[in-house]
Amino acid sequence: MNRELFESIPDRRNTHSLKWGKYDGSDIIPLWVADMDFKSPPEVVSAAVKAAEFGNFGYCHTPITLVDILLQRSKDLYDWQIQKSWIVWLPSVACGLNVCCRALKMDSSQVFTQIPIYPPFLSAPGNFGLSSKEIPMKLENHRFSFDFDALGKLDTSPGDLFMLCHPHNPVGTAYTEAELYRFSEWIVSRKLYLCSDEIHCDLILDSESKHFPIASISPELAKRCITLMAPSKTFNLPGFGCSFAIISEPQLRVKFKQACQGIVPEPPAMGFALAEAAYRHGEPWRQELLKYLTQNRDDACNGLSRMPFLVPYSPQATYLLWIDARELPVDNPHKYFEENGVGLSDGKDFGAPGFLRLNLGCSNQLLHEALQRMNKACEALS
Ligand SMILES: Cc1ncc(COP(=O)(O)O)c(C=O)c1O
Repeated sequence: MNRELFESIPDRRNTHSLKWGKYDGSDIIPLWVADMDFKSPPEVVSAAVKAAEFGNFGYCHTPITLVDILLQRSKDLYDWQIQKSWIVWLPSVACGLNVCCRALKMDSSQVFTQIPIYPPFLSAPGNFGLSSKEIPMKLENHRFSFDFDALGKLDTSPGDLFMLCHPHNPVGTAYTEAELYRFSEWIVSRKLYLCSDEIHCDLILDSESKHFPIASISPELAKRCITLMAPSKTFNLPGFGCSFAIISEPQLRVKFKQACQGIVPEPPAMGFALAEAAYRHGEPWRQELLKYLTQNRDDACNGLSRMPFLVPYSPQATYLLWIDARELPVDNPHKYFEENGVGLSDGKDFGAPGFLRLNLGCSNQLLHEALQRMNKACEALS
């Protein structure tokens, strides 16, 4: 493993970083919002320097070379043959979640999602006057997945929207092909629309797991599906706003584009340039990243499972680790760990009070420092 790539990292304090800025001036290790502390792949940094030195920042078209590499990559990594015309460029995936609700608000009366979930899934429906219906995920053999019994009993109407996070933030589930097939059949039988947020698809940590784009699982499902993807989580580019929707069904695509009309800009030129550099040259870096994150995940799970009161759920995918802290004898576990020098995400924002989410996208040394602080804080209560 090339540790140097992930250990020679910039000091993000006092840089307007959202993650680090929250705790500027205090001794709290920030392990919350989902970006990584690592530098992007060297080829991406070079592309940024080249674009900056060019010095003209006028309007631009989507580079056809980016589209070509995206299509090729989708085929090579996921055996999913997408077409150029299916792609709709977006400035962010969270924007895409909202556009889905806006596009389908005349067809849907309710939007379904599984909890716990990345917070914009909970807020997007209400932004367009739609009601949100939350279905708790099923915990079986220490892994969260679909609760097919609950789905079977759900009251749905044709045209309703289901928003899926795949792989799942915050619990880290990489759904199996069989699970996705069963879920697709349910979506099709109920005549629902599906928005599948696959932003974490390139971050499968378990060697025995694989990402299956859900729209590639069944042609019937594909007709009802909007897939959202981006290079931003994988290559640590979230500040550059380059994301996209993939929609094979022409009428659904027209609805989606109409919902973007006049208010949703395409990514900036620099976003396109860096996305292309990442997809074209970033694969060796991504392979090293997966090894580094897997080590961080295993170290964190080993450490946390030895601490009193905490139950970690080892993620199969993503760099996010979900922790059950409901046994911790304090009113607010999130606040308690902040007071003890570690800034985590609060499960309450994901629809699961008493849980915490830890971001593994940091140096192994910083992670160990945070684990030591958490251990000391737990020991103090036992
Ligand atoms: C599942 C999921 N979707 C969307 C986003 C946000 O993506 P963007 O920055 O492109 O809006 C995140 C960020 O953490 C995420 O985890």
